[in-house]
Parts: sequence; C-alpha cells; structure tokens
Amino acid sequence: MHTTTFDSLLLGPEATLHDALARLDATAQGIVLVTDAQRRLLRTVTDGDLRRAALAGLPPHTTLAALPPKAPLSVGLQAAMRDVQQLMDAQRIDHVPIVDDAGRAVDLVTRRELSQRVWMSSPHLGDDEAGLVQEAFRSNWIAPLGPHVDAFERELAAHVGVAHAAATSSGTAALHLGLRLLGVGPGDLVLCSSLTFVASANPIRQLGAIPVFVDSEPQGWNMSPRALQRALQALAAEGRRAKAAVVVDLYGLSAEMDALAPLLEAAGVPMLEDAAESLGAFYRDRASGSFGALAVFSFNGNKIITTSGGGMLVGDDARLIDHARRLSTQAREPVRHYEHVEDGYNYRMSNVLAGIGRGQLRVLRQRVDARRAVFEHYRATLAGRGGLRWMAEPPGHRATRWLSAFVLEHPRPQRARDLLLDFLERHNVEARPVWKPMHLQPLYAGCRYFAHDDDVSAALFAGGVCLPSGSNLDAAQLARVGALLQRGLDLVEAQA
Ligand SMILES: Cc1ncc(COP(=O)(O)O)c(C=O)c1O
Repeated sequence: MHTTTFDSLLLGPEATLHDALARLDATAQGIVLVTDAQRRLLRTVTDGDLRRAALAGLPPHTTLAALPPKAPLSVGLQAAMRDVQQLMDAQRIDHVPIVDDAGRAVDLVTRRELSQRVWMSSPHLGDDEAGLVQEAFRSNWIAPLGPHVDAFERELAAHVGVAHAAATSSGTAALHLGLRLLGVGPGDLVLCSSLTFVASANPIRQLGAIPVFVDSEPQGWNMSPRALQRALQALAAEGRRAKAAVVVDLYGLSAEMDALAPLLEAAGVPMLEDAAESLGAFYRDRASGSFGALAVFSFNGNKIITTSGGGMLVGDDARLIDHARRLSTQAREPVRHYEHVEDGYNYRMSNVLAGIGRGQLRVLRQRVDARRAVFEHYRATLAGRGGLRWMAEPPGHRATRWLSAFVLEHPRPQRARDLLLDFLERHNVEARPVWKPMHLQPLYAGCRYFAHDDDVSAALFAGGVCLPSGSNLDAAQLARVGALLQRGLDLVEAQA
C-alpha cells in the first residue's frame, strides 16, 4: 500500500455510506478511517459497520457522522508490533490505525502483515548442502576434523586467492587466533575500525591488549585513511607502535586498501583484515580477505553464506595458518600422549558444518548477484527521493551489498531513523540501525579514538539504516518492503 493508498483510506465525517462502500471497494483493505479536517482519527468504518447500517435500513446517503458512535481503537507511533498484535487479539479486530501525538491518523497495520515477517538476512541454502552433510554422516566424519574441513579450507582459500586457510568454530574465534598469531598480548595497542560489530574488538580486550579506535570515511564507511594517519602519527609521537590493526570490510565492501595498507606498512603494523561481512567482495580485482597479513571470515547464520556458525582464518604464511590449526585444537603437541606447551583453544570447525560450507561456497557468486539486485531494487524504488545517502560503492570496488544501507540526512537523524525503524517493525519488517561505533559503547568507554574530521561513524550510527537484504527475498517481499519504505519515509518527513 503506497502513501496515496494510505491517504485514500481517509474520509471525512460528511462522507456518505455510499462513499465509504466505494472506498472500501477501491482500496480492498476492509477499513476506512474517518478523520476530521486536521486528520485526527474520529472512528473507523469496516465492512461490518456498513452491513449493519444496511440491515438497520440506513439509506446510502446517510453521513458517516450519523452512524452509531464507535470509539476508535488505535495505538501511538511508539507501539511495537507486539502491542498491535495484542490489541488485535484482545479486540478481535484485523486492523489497527496508528495515530501520532496529536491524534492524527498516520498509518494502518493489518493482521495479514503480522504473519508475513521479512527478515534482514536469513540463511539461503543451495542444492548441494544436504548431500554433503549426508556424506559426513555416512562416512562417520562427524568430529571437528575430516575431509570436508580440509576441502572447505582449500576451496575457500582458492576462492579468495590466498595460500592457506584454517576453519574455525566462529569468526570471533578466528579473530582471536589471528591477533595471537600476530603477537598481540597484554598491554599492547591494537588499532581497530570503530564502526563495526563488537566481535572485531572484543578479542583485543580479551588478550589484555588496548584497542585504539579509528573513524570511518564518509563514502564507503570503512576505516578512514586520514584518521588512521592521525592515529599512527600520535602513537609515533609518543614513541609507541601498535602491534596490529584490525581493518574491517563493512557490509560487503572492502576498505580502501590502496590508502590504508601503505600507511600501516610504513609504520610496521601488520593488518588483520576482518572480512567477516565481505566474502565475495573485490577491490581492484583482489578479493576481500586477501589484503591483510591474516584475514577472517564468518559463516554465522546471517552472513552471505553460512555454516550455521563458523569462521575461517586465511593468509599466505603457511607457518601462521598451521599454528592457528594447532592452537584451535587445544595446542596439542605432535606426540602420542597429550603434551601441551602452549595455551590452546577448542576452536575447530566440525566436519558436518564444513559440508554445509562447501555447498554454500558453490553458490556464493549467485548470492552476491542476488544481494546486489536487492540493493538496486531499493535504490530504484527510492530514486528521486531526497534526504537519503546510500552506502557508496567507490571506484575500483565490487561490493556484495551483504546489507543494503543508507543514511537519513535529516536535522534530527536519530529521531528520523527510529521513526522509520519503528514503522518497519510495526509492519513486521526487520531492519536495524547501522552498527553503534565501538568508541560510543559503554564497554569501550575511555578508549582512544581518532576521528576523520567530524565524527563520521557517530553520524552514520545516528542516521543509518540497514534494510532486509537476503538473497532469498522474493519479488513480492521486495515490492512490499519498497512500498513500506515509501510510506515510512513520508511519515518521517511529516513527523520528524
Ligand atoms: C565485522 C564482524 N566481525 C566479526 C564477526 C564475528 O563473526 P562470528 O559471528 O562468526 O563469530 C562478525 C559477525 O558476526 C562481524 O560482522
């Protein structure tokens, strides 16, 4: 239902039963909203009301104002989907009008929408996964080692164009291993993109090291070379050098590696590339995940391909990746008995899950194309609308558009963002704010932060929205989300 359709649900009290019937017929929503000149909701008129009016013998030219009074049931703009559902169930109604603080009708939720949730990024299996998992069962390779693990590592490394890979139980585990292998320990400084998921930073803290957060650049939202340079200079002036830098490739877009890598190299700081969100992306014909001394992928359930949970540490240094495998299996020494010299972890990927991963890797290219098409659908649907800035795909990049994201350019961006997110949630569409930057997280209060000029990542958080982006969204779902975005953005314009 587009805005014009929402407006077409509104009738004045002077309208007649005949008008209401015609409107119900044209809009097919089973309800019209009777509003005064200021759009304040006076009552609703449903099919049932008209039936009862006909049975009572009221002529078609009777005005809606003359109907037996009925207090309108509605909820406010802050109401969640749960509140709407509760009201529907308690009152046995199928429609709930939404009113703003002034009592004006601004939206309508129908029961049909409540059973049709659109997810942000749900798993999307191909044709081969079940067979590969069955193979693991048949051959009894159920343990966290086996032929699928070995093959998944080989196949993923080939896909990314790196020499070696170690499969892990999660992307976070791979980050932890990667930092340890780069020698990060207590008291060390580690540079880290601020605009990211908390898992990029937590292993730094968990190793006793100190994160130093770096802002985003405004185009692609990844680590700002300008802010990085400032950070490196500031540390150098103090006679300090970071032990490593966690550079995140956000939402399916590689960071600006041509600018970042030379800065880090000149400062002697190895890069741990957090490519958890960007498998399948390219920058100047090199795959995301092939830039760092080590890089990390995630196969968590919401990622572009998934093993239900899992990760991978990749790199060209065979010694480091072998070491990662040993550390991920409790660091057992290669002798008959259980001999331990190093502190290890239980971080290896299971052979069953690696089977899923192998099947998923076969459809990765299709998944990238599908997600890019989702992004283009939104961009085309909202083309010509002011006040939106899409996450860019700067020259030289091929993004996967793992998540389709934009920023609302608005004088009160956070209020506008929350109005839109509340609207989408009421209509059973999952959408989220852009990551809250690490330097604004209570967990990292007091950590150092180097801004671009203004605080770019804070502004991206304030106005940023991530939309449903799954490769398995069908045309009807995309059309529904597109139409809801139009309506939601109209509502933001009217309210915020
Ligand atoms: C940027 C980033 N880093 C790390 C992770 C952690 O990966 P995992 O959930 O597999 O531990 C994620 C996602 O979950 C992520 O988005």
